[in-house]
Parts: sequence; structure tokens; C-alpha cells
Amino acid sequence: MLEHLKDLHAQALEELNRIDNPRELELWRVQYLGKKSSLTQSLRSLAALPLEERREVGAQANEIKTALESILAEKQRLLQETFLSSSRESGTLDVTLPGRPLPTGRTHPTTQILEEICDAFKSMGFQVIEGPDVEWDYYNFEALNMPQHHPARDMMATFWVDTGVSGKARLLRTHTSPMQIRLMEKERPPIRAIVPGRVYRYEATDATHESMFYQVEGLAVDKGITLADLKGTLFDFCRCIFGEERKVRFRCDYFPFVEPGVEVAISCLACSGTGCRLCGNSGWIEILGAGMVHPDVLARVDIDPGIYSGFAFGMGVERIPMLRYGIDDIRLFYGNDLRFLRQF
Ligand code: PHE
Repeated sequence: MLEHLKDLHAQALEELNRIDNPRELELWRVQYLGKKSSLTQSLRSLAALPLEERREVGAQANEIKTALESILAEKQRLLQETFLSSSRESGTLDVTLPGRPLPTGRTHPTTQILEEICDAFKSMGFQVIEGPDVEWDYYNFEALNMPQHHPARDMMATFWVDTGVSGKARLLRTHTSPMQIRLMEKERPPIRAIVPGRVYRYEATDATHESMFYQVEGLAVDKGITLADLKGTLFDFCRCIFGEERKVRFRCDYFPFVEPGVEVAISCLACSGTGCRLCGNSGWIEILGAGMVHPDVLARVDIDPGIYSGFAFGMGVERIPMLRYGIDDIRLFYGNDLRFLRQF
């Protein structure tokens, strides 16, 4: 048996020496290392041998197998090299031809801007937290000072998931503000967090309305937080996202869960304030709603409004790339038209 293996080894090496092309090399591999090769067969028939012999023959066969495998790899590399250099010389291989491009994916424009927004707030010490898309009426409305039949509910046409007794019905959140409540229920001040996420509105879609879009909510609660902190935070944010030269405007607005409430606008990106079609000739573009967390909201989550105060803000996300790149239809974002998506 041992003799036979030795002969086999010598024969294999000798044949390999004469081989000069990949096709023959493959035949050689099948003959000496393939499933039906006598080497593999002898390894298989080991079980039938007496123990002593089995050890010796097994070790020998394995050694030969490893040796043949490594010399095969070496030969493959050599043949490949000779092939490349000879075709380079004969001119059949043009190494200057450009390669075939691989199709590459990319991040969605919404994802890109979300990352930018999160980075801006992270650098100011905010945590990034996410919450559920399917939400209780309680968090989406009631806890935010919008009890049943409150007129402000009509501003956000709602997809109801089910109906139930007051506060217990489920819905697709119409804004990210319910996360203000969840955050304050779970954590005690100081709180500083932003919440990116999808929101849903039961509305007819058009160039500026989608039934699903993204918002980023912000919340800061601590002792001694004032409107000046809100202003400083949002001014910094706007300059970071829209450029140092942007002007930022605060004006009174109403949201049931903040007092006072403000609307924040930036000087128009197209005309820088002189008035154009993009800003409806006003020179300003509204980008978010904000305000000081309403004392009743704080009290509802057991945070004493006599000791603590906070600010909150919420912004639409798609609006930002729309302004930046002059995209005039929000429906393009989720229409999955690759011609649109490939531009970002
Ligand atoms: N949730 C409000 C909206 O969707 C925005 C907002 C958030 C306003 C936080 C004030 C404070 O319109």
C-alpha cells in the first residue's frame, strides 16, 4: 500500500511537470485529487486495514494529498501568470481598457438629510431616540393637550388603526411629538433628545403633501431652560444646515402643547430675502414649529412645572432637500423612480 502511494506521488509530480495549460491541469486535478482518484479511494478504504497499518498509510496518504494540493495551487498561479504576460505581449489583452462598472447603491436623500440633522444635534449634546409609528391616541393627542373634540385634531387628519374608548384608540402617529411624552415618562430631567421618524396624514397628496413623510422632534427639559435656549439651539442648527449667512426668524404661533409657541423661518434660499416664487414673495421660508413645553404637559408626566421648564420643536424633513436642490414635488421621494434617486 505504501509503495503504491509513493509511486502515485511520483507519477503525479512527473505529469504535472509536463502540463502547460489550464485545461490539462484540471484533468490532472480530477485524476489525482478528485473524488474518484486512487488517492481519495485509498483514504476511503483505510477502515478495512488493521490498526497499525491504518495509521501509517493514513498519515502518508494525507501528506501526499496536502503536498499535491499545494503544488497544484502553485501551478495554477504560474499558468495564470504566463497566460497574462503572453497575451499582454501578443496584444490580445488590452490592459488599458476601462473595467466594467459595478452598479452601486446609495443612501436615499431622506436618509442623507436625517444623518446631517442628527449629526448637528448630536454635536450639541442631544441623544437620538426612535419611537413607534403605531401610537395610542393618548400620546398623539390627549397627553399633548388635545382631548377628544379639540379643534386642533382637525389640523392633522388621522389614519385610525382601531377605535376605542377615549385615549385607547390606536392610530398612525400624525407627528413625532408623542415621543415628548414617552421620553418624559421614562426619564427624569435633564433631558435632551431628538426623535427622527415617519409620520402619517390622511390627506390627498399633491406636490407639497404626502400621506407619509418624516419629522424630527426635539426636546430639552431641565431647570432654568428658557426661550433663549430654544432660540440659540435652533439658530445654530439652521446655520449648520442652511449655511452661515442664513437669517432666522421667530414668530408667534399656536400649538396646544407649547406655550408660548413659535414658528421658525429662514431667509429664502433662492432670493436671500428679496422675494421670489419659492418663498411666495415673502423672503422667508417656514421650516419648523416650536415652543416652551406647556406646564400642563409637564405636570401630566409628573415633572413639576414650578421647578422645571423645557423647549420642544418639530420639523419636516423632506422640505430641506426640496429647498436645497430645488425639488418641486415631495411625491418624488417615495415614488421609487431610480432616475430621481440616482441623482443624490
Ligand atoms: N408637532 C408639530 C407639528 O407636526 C410641530 C411642533 C413640535 C410644534 C414641537 C411645537 C413643538 O406640526
